[in-house]
Amino acid sequence: MRHLISVDDLEDEFITQIYDHADYFKVARKDRGQDWFSCTQALRNQILITDFFEPSTRTRLSFEAAMSYLGGNVIGTENAADFSSIKKGESIYDNFKVISGYGDIIVGRFRQEGEARLAADASEIPLINGGDGKGEHPTQALIDGFIIDRTFPSYDGLTVTFIGDNEHSRTVKSLFKMLSRHNVEMNFLNSPTWKADPTWRLHHGWKGEGTWIRPDTFRGTQEVERTIRNSHVVYMTRNQVERHQNMLEDVAPRFVLDQHYVDMLPDTAIILHPLPRNEELPAAIDADPRARYFEQAHNGLFIRMALLEQLQNG
Ligand code: NCD
Repeated sequence: MRHLISVDDLEDEFITQIYDHADYFKVARKDRGQDWFSCTQALRNQILITDFFEPSTRTRLSFEAAMSYLGGNVIGTENAADFSSIKKGESIYDNFKVISGYGDIIVGRFRQEGEARLAADASEIPLINGGDGKGEHPTQALIDGFIIDRTFPSYDGLTVTFIGDNEHSRTVKSLFKMLSRHNVEMNFLNSPTWKADPTWRLHHGWKGEGTWIRPDTFRGTQEVERTIRNSHVVYMTRNQVERHQNMLEDVAPRFVLDQHYVDMLPDTAIILHPLPRNEELPAAIDADPRARYFEQAHNGLFIRMALLEQLQNG
């Protein structure tokens, strides 16, 4: 694989390797023994370039930490929209053509769907899509897939419920694509303003079972309660206000995964969120052992170490 733009670029065997290596890095860091210190030789003298046109905490910092732990160097900007020559009218193509001459691998984050592909076409070195508008976020899908894979013995019969702004979330789309490869039931509790019909799933190649809910008021709806009770994974997302076309979407009533609903979840279920969260996931839920989103975010370091290492040395 030269560039990682979409989950479609990830072969199953490659995903398995990434997960195994991430396990290795996770244990090595905990032990802080010889294995961990020998990591610093892996990408010595290589440079990761980060070029981010949208805000980021986890993606940029965990990639930078991953590269640093692997012994490489990092250059870049967290606010390319203001601090790069794009501000002077340079095209994405020219920008990535030029910077690809200054390092060995690039992670980019883009405001518009499709810009990651454009940047990859220009780049002379591997480019990783760190999120492009409401397009995709393949490395987040690896992080999300990893915790699901390592929590449950099998994908067979697993029920995953996506709750929130599914329409505008690139992490939902990427994870949905990844899980579509397995015999997983997927339910969608969508933002009440979503006009799209259930065929959205078919557009992305989904042939499996699932419930599609766009209730006007969430609480008390039997279908919602039944869906939550049957979920092994609840995948929450915040309202993606920066991608909304009209104010109605911002003020529409939203689902809050409060204690009332958490109490309905099976004991073995897990609650995930790519973060950042807003009011859809109250901090009071953090203490519940099923809340795994901070672990999920911390796994990002190991997944990104594994990815950088595999892309460059694999
Ligand atoms: C997500 C993103 O950027 O799409 N954040 C992340 O990388 N963990 C989710 C979001 O912004 O809501």
